[in-house]
Amino acid sequence: MDAGVQGREATAERLLRSSLEHSYEPNIDIDWDAPLVDGLWGIPEHRVSLYGTDLWAGLTDEQRRTLSLHELCSVARIGLWFEMILMQMLLRYAYDRDPRSSHIQYALTEIADECRHSVMFGRLNARLGAPDYKPRRITHELGRLFKTIGYGPAMFAGTLFVEEILDQLQREAMRDETVQPLTRMVNKVHVTEEARHVRYAREELVRIMPRVGFAERQLARYLTARIAYVVARNLIHRDVYASVGLDPAQGRRAALANPQFQETLRWSARKLVPFLREQGLVGGPTEAFWRQAHLV
Ligand SMILES: [Fe+2]
Ligand SMILES: [Fe+2]
Repeated sequence: MDAGVQGREATAERLLRSSLEHSYEPNIDIDWDAPLVDGLWGIPEHRVSLYGTDLWAGLTDEQRRTLSLHELCSVARIGLWFEMILMQMLLRYAYDRDPRSSHIQYALTEIADECRHSVMFGRLNARLGAPDYKPRRITHELGRLFKTIGYGPAMFAGTLFVEEILDQLQREAMRDETVQPLTRMVNKVHVTEEARHVRYAREELVRIMPRVGFAERQLARYLTARIAYVVARNLIHRDVYASVGLDPAQGRRAALANPQFQETLRWSARKLVPFLREQGLVGGPTEAFWRQAHLV
């Protein structure tokens, strides 16, 4: 075995051991029947997309908390959408490789994690009575294309984008006592298991990027920027605003123009962007997508 393969196997063995020790079964480990707690938030108040806007000033406290629950559902729904894309990409990745390796056994373990997460996010949406905040049609079809052909650097970088921005948002909410226990428990499950996925993808990118040629790097940059843009723009579905009687288009415009929400997006990507830049996956003309989506 060369040193790269050895390092990759050593990481995968650690991740497999950690998966055995710290994994959840959300159907059992989450109390789905517990009532929501009056006065608590779906996500931290200052992370709600309209926080600080004129529209926000016009909402009652109860409406604000309702909106926070719908934004929680929307973020979980976009997470679920990307998890389904990732499961398919990882399965295609494993299909072509040696299942005797820990590296591929971990890829299969990650698919199992994502599968439980998607059930958990689906159940969260059902439990909270949210509409299906699925991405719009064009995004849905772009996702279909990406999950069919995505591979290599763009697969790992796109995955990291979704995993790391969710990690930031969920880690904060998990520790916030003004947030519903249901949110905090869902986030704890996700943050714990995703930390391993982030490690897997980051280390794999560091290993593969030195061998990636100019053209492939440009393509990976473009695809990663597109994924980041699309996910950031779909994080909060416009229909969430209808849950408190606001016009969806008006709510969306106010959120996108809200400096506080723009800051939340940049904050959520703050650890990831320098890493991707170091790997040559952020930079050049496609950085415009990152700027437009308020991620840099
Ligand atoms: Fe996940
Ligand atoms: Fe993941």
